[in-house]
Amino acid sequence: MTNPAPIGVFDSGIGGLTVVHELMRQLPHESIVYFGDTARVPYGNKGPETVQRYSREIADFLESRGVKAIVVACNTATAHALPVLRAERRVPVIGVVEPGARAAVAAAGSGPIGVIGTAGTIRSGAYDRAIHALSPAAQVVARGCPLFVPLVEEGWTDHAAARLVAGEYLAPIRAARVETLVLGCTHYPLLKPLLHEVLGPGVSLIDSAEETAAETARVLAERGLAAPPDATPTYQYVCSDEPSRFRELGQRFLGRPIDRVESHPLG
Ligand code: DGL
Repeated sequence: MTNPAPIGVFDSGIGGLTVVHELMRQLPHESIVYFGDTARVPYGNKGPETVQRYSREIADFLESRGVKAIVVACNTATAHALPVLRAERRVPVIGVVEPGARAAVAAAGSGPIGVIGTAGTIRSGAYDRAIHALSPAAQVVARGCPLFVPLVEEGWTDHAAARLVAGEYLAPIRAARVETLVLGCTHYPLLKPLLHEVLGPGVSLIDSAEETAAETARVLAERGLAAPPDATPTYQYVCSDEPSRFRELGQRFLGRPIDRVESHPLG
């Protein structure tokens, strides 16, 4: 059984395009509708109820576009809204936290696991819970890094200011001699070289984008929802604010050109 309908992917803004990049790489026949809530970004410092309300509105929009599954590419939205979305939607809903936690536990052995993310993601304890569900004795060192998102959006991924901020945020991670670090935010894969510089080349950086794409492939295959193997994919990009900044920044996150962006305000 196959299903040619698109996968819906959403994020608070453009960062979730790192997950789309991986979906395109691992699932080259799947069509994608991406929604970036650029009018209301960032989610990282908003409360759980607000993020749940936004996430519901976006899921409604994606379902109105006929998606066969929803990937919550935003760590903060996954942390706050995945259970409610899963309970309410008829299509499968995949988040980024469980796949990242699973990969971290596999990589860490008995060593401590570091987790970095937005203030909301870390405060929610979602990664702690997901890691402890798999490995009850794991030592988790979690740290909110709220300044990383604006630094990445500014393009300052290899800048003295980013180095200074990273040194400060990562001090407890280094002190705990963490060798496995979960990048619990859409923007952090773009900081990989800097994080290696600060933490040393031996630290494994767990990119939830890669793991989430692999999880999506598994879910689609299990439920007979994968696209036909000869399908030519289509990609639609939609954002809630004006499209020009989405296009410009989005190409950097996606690593390929974006021709057209639709604007669709919500709320
Ligand atoms: N997409 C968010 C995340 O992965 C980061 C940006 C934001 O704060 O909205 O947590």
